[in-house]
This record gives sequence, structure tokens and C-alpha cells, in this order.
Amino acid sequence: MGRLDGKVILLSAGAQGIGRAAAVAFAKEGAEVIATDVNEDKLKELHQYPGIKTRVLDVTKKDQIEVLAKELDKVDVLFNVAGFVHHGTVLDCEEGDWDFTMNLNVRSMYLMIRAFLPQMLARKSGNIINMSSVASSIKGVVNRCVYSTSKAAIIGLTKSVAADFIEQGIRCNCICPGTVDTPSLRERIQARPNPEQALKDFLARQKTGRMCTAEEVAHLCVFLASDESAYVTGTEQIIDGGWSL
Ligand SMILES: NC(=O)c1ccc[n+]([C@@H]2O[C@H](COP(=O)([O-])OP(=O)(O)OC[C@H]3O[C@@H](n4cnc5c(N)ncnc54)[C@H](O)[C@@H]3O)[C@@H](O)[C@H]2O)c1
Repeated sequence: MGRLDGKVILLSAGAQGIGRAAAVAFAKEGAEVIATDVNEDKLKELHQYPGIKTRVLDVTKKDQIEVLAKELDKVDVLFNVAGFVHHGTVLDCEEGDWDFTMNLNVRSMYLMIRAFLPQMLARKSGNIINMSSVASSIKGVVNRCVYSTSKAAIIGLTKSVAADFIEQGIRCNCICPGTVDTPSLRERIQARPNPEQALKDFLARQKTGRMCTAEEVAHLCVFLASDESAYVTGTEQIIDGGWSL
């Protein structure tokens, strides 16, 4: 018996990194997974896993979200993963960078929750998980100004939804990873003027001496998606190998 038998789980950013690892872990535990992303080619790689269906979805597009919400009448778990990391201080962050990040990281979650919460309320049962970060209200991190601002907003959104709908059978939590070894992290390292030094710097700030793996975050995702966490709501789940200690 799987820990997620009978559950329908919809997630964004499923094509790579944490979203992909979570989609695979959810399916292994018996869930029916709908993995969405803007990257159609990479999404197709998920077809090898029984239990995973894929769908192209740009989470910044309200019309696309609403079409999907009309098609899916039972989503037990909504996992909002999509997010973008802008590098820089407040002075490096142009208005366009600010708007792009807040739109993709925060407004997308607002749109997704507004689209899928009503059907959860109608069933008096629903579980929303949002991807935040320890780079947020938890920890000040250099060169992560708008990113941290957006991730702090996600903690606020999470607690607000949890508080507003707890009596209607809805729970809402967020996940706050430290540094996770994912394709986009590798790209960010490669984009630095000295990638070798950038990798060393990333590793130097890890108290465990290594980065977190996407699969380790996926274990936490399975717990939050399952009924094992039925009494957990409104929390920020830190998984950072002690970085924020
Ligand atoms: N990797 C880390 O160190 C780390 C740490 C803390 C939090 N996070 C958060 O975890 C989440 C996933 O990060 P990751 O590093 O695992 O993934 P990633 O950055 O490697 O992949 C992101 C995925 O999002 C998709 N995407 C981009 N724009 C989209 C859009 N408009 N609509 C739908 N999908 C879109 C991309 O195609 C890609 O598949 C993000 O919210 C990120 O901020 C990551």
C-alpha cells in the first residue's frame, strides 16, 4: 500500500529539480500525479513513470490555469513549486526583475490557489503546499533581494490560507529549503564569473559540507502530501541542513 494511494496531486515546475523529484516520489507512493511545466520536452521524460500525467502550464497565465481547473474536478493536493532566482541586491534589481520575480514566484501561487481552492472547499478537504525558501523572512542571504522578498511573501500567503480555511478542512504549508542541487542551481553557478569558486562558496556555506538533494526535499513533500501530516498546517518546513541555525 502506498502512502498516497487514492490522492490526486497537481504540481507546477514538474519538469526538473525539486518538482520532478516530488512528482516521481508521489507516483511511487500511489498518487495520481499531474505534473505541469512550461518545458514540454522535459515533461515528456516523466511519461516513463506509471501514475504521472503531464500538462503544459505557464503558471503566470490566468487563462491557462482556469482552463485546467475546469478540467480537473478533484485535486486533493496542490503543490506550487515554480519559482525563479534573481541574483543581486536591491540596487541590482531593476523594476522589470522585481515584477518578473514577484509575478512568477508569488502571483502564480495566488492564481493557482484561487483556481483550485473552491473545489477543495466544496469537498471540505484539501491540501496546499507552497515552495518557499530559507532565503526569506527566515534568513537574510546576500544577493537574493527580490527572491527573498518573494519567498517571505509565500510564507505569509501560506499562513493566511491556513488560518482562513482551517475550519473547512483545508490545510496549507510551505517548504523552505536551503541549497538544493538542481539544474537551475548548476546553471546559476556556471553563470558566475568564476564557476569553480562559486561552487566552493556554495559548499562553504553548507554546515553539512554538501548540498541537499532534490530527492531529500521530495521525502518531505511526500510527508506533507500524505495524511501522516494531517495535523500539520500553517507551517514553514525548513530543510536546509542547519544553514539557518
Ligand atoms: N534549488 C534550490 O537551491 C532551491 C532552494 C530553495 C527553494 N527553491 C525553490 O524550489 C522551486 C524549484 O526550484 P528547482 O531549483 O528545483 O527547479 P529549477 O529552477 O531547476 O526548475 C524550475 C522549473 O520551473 C519551470 N518554470 C519556469 N517558469 C515557469 C512558468 N512560468 N510556469 C511553469 N513552470 C515554469 C522551468 O521550466 C523548470 O522546469 C523554486 O520555487 C525555487 O525557488 C530551490
